[in-house]
Amino acid sequence: MTRHIDLLIHNIGQLCTLRGGPQRGDQLGALGIIEHGAVAIDDGKIFDVGTSEQLHLRYDAARLIDAQGCAVVPGLVDPHTHLVWAGDRAAEFEMRLAGATYMEIMNAGGGINNTVQQVRAASLEQLIAETRPRLDRMLRLGTTTVEIKTGYGLDTPTELKQLEAIYRLAQSHPMTIVATFMGAHAIPPEFAGRTEAYVDYVVSEMIPAVAAFATQRGMPLPFIDVFCEQGVFDVPQTERILRAGIAHGMRAKLHADEFAALGGTRLAVELGAVSVDHLVESTSEDITALGKGDTVAVALPGTPFGLAHSKYTPARAIIAAGGILAIATDCNPGTAWCESIPFIMALSCRMMGLTPAQALAAATINAACALGLADTHGSIEVGKQADLLILDAQDYRHLAYRFGGSSVKSVIKSGVVI
Ligand code: NIG
Ligand code: FE
Repeated sequence: MTRHIDLLIHNIGQLCTLRGGPQRGDQLGALGIIEHGAVAIDDGKIFDVGTSEQLHLRYDAARLIDAQGCAVVPGLVDPHTHLVWAGDRAAEFEMRLAGATYMEIMNAGGGINNTVQQVRAASLEQLIAETRPRLDRMLRLGTTTVEIKTGYGLDTPTELKQLEAIYRLAQSHPMTIVATFMGAHAIPPEFAGRTEAYVDYVVSEMIPAVAAFATQRGMPLPFIDVFCEQGVFDVPQTERILRAGIAHGMRAKLHADEFAALGGTRLAVELGAVSVDHLVESTSEDITALGKGDTVAVALPGTPFGLAHSKYTPARAIIAAGGILAIATDCNPGTAWCESIPFIMALSCRMMGLTPAQALAAATINAACALGLADTHGSIEVGKQADLLILDAQDYRHLAYRFGGSSVKSVIKSGVVI
């Protein structure tokens, strides 16, 4: 007796399942490949995984997709973006090419605060309308789950407007969208020179307002994130903000060691943060802490590339220390308008020394772990979301080997062919 299912994808050359959970240290890159594979999908979830021969005997599918020997991988997960913004910063890009640094532009009132002005002036509808096509392009490039941060409002009403945009997109776009509250992304102009007063405002007003808003909207609480950086928020200020978020039930993430090593990474590990991201300048103490803790280390190689810097996250040292490494785009209008995880995989191999298999694991199961979603996303295993990509190549390595175009032929999100 065969069982009826919605969809059977068969004749898969290399089925990269990424089974077995998050991949720590040198376990990174275990793809769990099934040759001549097939995936049975029902009700938007993975129902069975095996060889084509096995699954043909077990199922009778309403729809059959012949992968024609191509490779199949899990849908990609992008665990760090600032995707909801208005306008652009092309002029700052050109200023940097002429020699200005990112932090100089920021300290002169540009940078994040440039985008803050544009987001404060934009309506909710405009924010959604500018963001949706970015999500559409990401999905076509293979990203099926994405995190989006606030942090271009920096006052309560605008932070809530950004959060509302994220929630509306989460409810109307096929991608799985996870929200992060980042009211502590920069010091807004009205608090210039008064960072402590702004921290007070974030802690006593914004965080309770965000928690109440999420509850009232019936949405899960966002993560909380802080830009821990020289000239932005120092370690004690970061700790105060993260602890206040945690006290309201939010789980912590952190931007640390992007331009200077302040000790934010060790703080993130101590607080049990879900992830700590950037890690370009991390010290050996930071790397040791990542190896011992459960906080996922998220490298963002599109950012040094976008800034034309030559220094990248010491990913191999993080792996050697036993850390859980993930990668993400950091898609934002300042440092890295990059919508492509495959391009980030390509950079990870060339600039951080990952193998193509390690880059794939860092962009799937470990990236899901950086969002607390490792039980439901990031691998092709029974019971998980049916998020997977059919490549237009027989070899999964094409995902990282090619760049500038796309080697993703079809995207299947929650069992639906996009
Ligand atoms: O992760 N470093 C802080 N935040 C972003 C940049 C945001 C912006 O410049 O608008 C980042 O690189
Ligand atoms: Fe960021």
